[in-house]
Amino acid sequence: MRHLSVPRDQTQVWLERCKANGWLEKTGVIPYSETHRAVPLTGEAPGENDAFWEGHVIVDIEPKDPSPKHWTERLPAELQSKPASFWPSAFETQGDVLLVKLEPEVRPHGKAMAVAMLNHMPSIRVVCADNGVEGDFRVRSLEPLSSRDGSTHTTTTVREHGFEIQVDPGEVYFSARLSNQRQQTLERFQAFRQRLGHPIVLADPYAGVGPALPLLLVEPDLVEGFLVGDLNPKAVDLLKTNVDRWAGRAGQSFAPSTVVCEDARLWSKDEHLSGKAHAVLVNLPHDSFEHLPAMFPLFRQEGESLLRGWTIVERDELPRQKERLERLVQEAGGEPLETEISEVKGFSTTRCFAMFQTLFRWQ
Ligand SMILES: C[S@@+](CC[C@H](N)C(=O)[O-])C[C@H]1O[C@@H](n2cnc3c(N)ncnc32)[C@H](O)[C@@H]1O
Repeated sequence: MRHLSVPRDQTQVWLERCKANGWLEKTGVIPYSETHRAVPLTGEAPGENDAFWEGHVIVDIEPKDPSPKHWTERLPAELQSKPASFWPSAFETQGDVLLVKLEPEVRPHGKAMAVAMLNHMPSIRVVCADNGVEGDFRVRSLEPLSSRDGSTHTTTTVREHGFEIQVDPGEVYFSARLSNQRQQTLERFQAFRQRLGHPIVLADPYAGVGPALPLLLVEPDLVEGFLVGDLNPKAVDLLKTNVDRWAGRAGQSFAPSTVVCEDARLWSKDEHLSGKAHAVLVNLPHDSFEHLPAMFPLFRQEGESLLRGWTIVERDELPRQKERLERLVQEAGGEPLETEISEVKGFSTTRCFAMFQTLFRWQ
């Protein structure tokens, strides 16, 4: 089919000229080369030698596939001239919410971009600009750009390892990227349960919406009881909903089965929260090590215990952090049996996100 090849920055001009004369075919503009775009022409458009084309070449190429393969193909005609590199190449979805980071030059086109994304992705309800993480609760600052049905709330459901998790990326931290870590937590707990010879009481005082829990609760005979919480009240609302559903699916009763909204460092002062756990999870990566001394009172303080957490550290500090962890165990009255710390993923050129774990015996 005939297309007019025009320099990229003249695409809009030629689209309008062709349209005004009734010569614009509806199949859409095609990227013809790095520098040129091909504007589709109807059968009525004059031949290449016509003065109207101002010397631009007419090429015979396949029309664009009528079903766009990429959301950028659904952008309005006036934005088609932007190079692919102009638009965000990555985004994250949580349930029916799409989160996208915008460079300053893309911001003015945020709404048009969001509409194109909604048109391309039927499972998305609302597209939000992700303006980064804020505060101790590590919550993203989100700005709704466009919504399919007018609703701009960000409460939604994600599926992970076969479980539904109620999340709200605008109110509570959650990262789908750590799902492998949660699978590993299950494996480590299974090994620890074998050693103990009986089911585990677990504490997860920085639980967020509780993504570490479903795999553990539903595993037969693994968990006897749980103490979970978060300082963010919005997280605790979702945590309660989630835990109720997962505990119901487990088909067993748990004792304790405690969900609290409380600063984890104060759990040690509460007799209902301290001295009960065999295993404690500490997921506060920017501050985990500073909070660790307040975590030891949560353990039952007899036999063996398991402490597992995540931290952000300088990569070349990893060996020293392992020593620091063992020292903290000793200061709390424990004897480290197996301690490890390993990089999970890069965080910056020198820093990494790392998992730490120590199995220790109370003396
Ligand atoms: C990195 S998120 C981890 C959440 C969850 N464990 C997960 O994997 O998705 C850290 C959580 O700790 C909570 N938090 C921050 N400071 C806290 C504190 N002092 N006591 C209890 N929770 C706290 C935040 O609200 C947030 O939900």
